[in-house]
Amino acid sequence: MSSRTTSKRTTKKNQRTNPFVNEELIALLDYRIEQEEQSARFYHAMAVWLNDNGFMGAAKQWEADSQGEMTHAQWAKDYLLDMGIKPKIPKLVEPPQEYDGLDDIIYQSYDHEVEVTSQCSKLAEYAAKSGNYLLYQLTMKYMQEQQEELGKLQTLMDKLEAFGNDKVAMRLLDNELGAAAAPAK
Ligand SMILES: [Fe+2]
Ligand SMILES: [Fe+2]
Repeated sequence: MSSRTTSKRTTKKNQRTNPFVNEELIALLDYRIEQEEQSARFYHAMAVWLNDNGFMGAAKQWEADSQGEMTHAQWAKDYLLDMGIKPKIPKLVEPPQEYDGLDDIIYQSYDHEVEVTSQCSKLAEYAAKSGNYLLYQLTMKYMQEQQEELGKLQTLMDKLEAFGNDKVAMRLLDNELGAAAAPAK
């Protein structure tokens, strides 16, 4: 690493040394961007399936969640851009196209958020261990978001447990999700 540049990913001649970014950190944030955009594709595919199968309320909620994931990808892009690094726009894999029902989508979303929370925890651990508290504040934003998402899905799983997954219960849950569909965040 030269004293004038922090990364191969910047070509700017006047780039100063920036101690808050390095190759390892760039790779970790590239991964965060990819995983958040992949989450967006996953939830978008679920929203399309829900819409096609009559769950219009849930479709609205999952589409909002999909847009929310793109916002989370932007958080990592903004960090890199603020450090003078151009973020890499990732190639994504095709998400599953078919699901067994709204209950299946709730459980799959929960499992996915558990995986993402583990990823974000590792990023927070890296930030803390390396003493990079600029990165650490970004990771706390991710962790806060993960608590909210796990909590939201936990409530839905609790409702499946309490009221079952027959057609009437699913219809009521769909109505409720549609009325509460949060705007993207
Ligand atoms: Fe996210
Ligand atoms: Fe998420």
